[in-house]
Amino acid sequence: MGAEAAIRFTVNGREKSVETDPDRTLLEFLREDLGLLGTKYGCGEGQCGACSVLVDGRRMNACRTAVSKVSGRSVVTIEGLAKGEALHPVQQAFLEVGAYQCGFCTAGMIVAAVALLDANPAPSDVEIVAGMDRNLCRCCSYPKIVRAVRRAVELTGGGAR
Ligand code: FES
Ligand code: FES
Repeated sequence: MGAEAAIRFTVNGREKSVETDPDRTLLEFLREDLGLLGTKYGCGEGQCGACSVLVDGRRMNACRTAVSKVSGRSVVTIEGLAKGEALHPVQQAFLEVGAYQCGFCTAGMIVAAVALLDANPAPSDVEIVAGMDRNLCRCCSYPKIVRAVRRAVELTGGGAR
């Protein structure tokens, strides 16, 4: 563990100011210090996408991101997508389609889909598959996941919020 450093950033709209080892992973900080357990530890090697979060709107693997790298930036986790009681359209779509089995990959899939639709609000099926290809589902729910992303496009009218 290295020397502690002061780091300020925003998580789900709330400013955080912490003294911590700057080399800790963002994933560890989110789960262990903030109790945001929706973001999952899968491989820890940047290979599965279970730990996907949005950093300034860009999808990143929190397991491969040092907490110091998000200094001054805005982090959004799965817990920050809903607006009050209203689910994000991508969350709503995954629920409607039932695009999960064990659910371990689901938060990362949803975050990846949010990033995809923010960049491309009306992707083709080929673009959906390409856009989601950094996320693995060990239950092989891929067909339903693609359907859920399509449904999210319908719910947003082709314009992600
Ligand atoms: S846990 Fe981060 S990519 Fe697998
Ligand atoms: S639903 Fe089990 S890993 Fe995807």
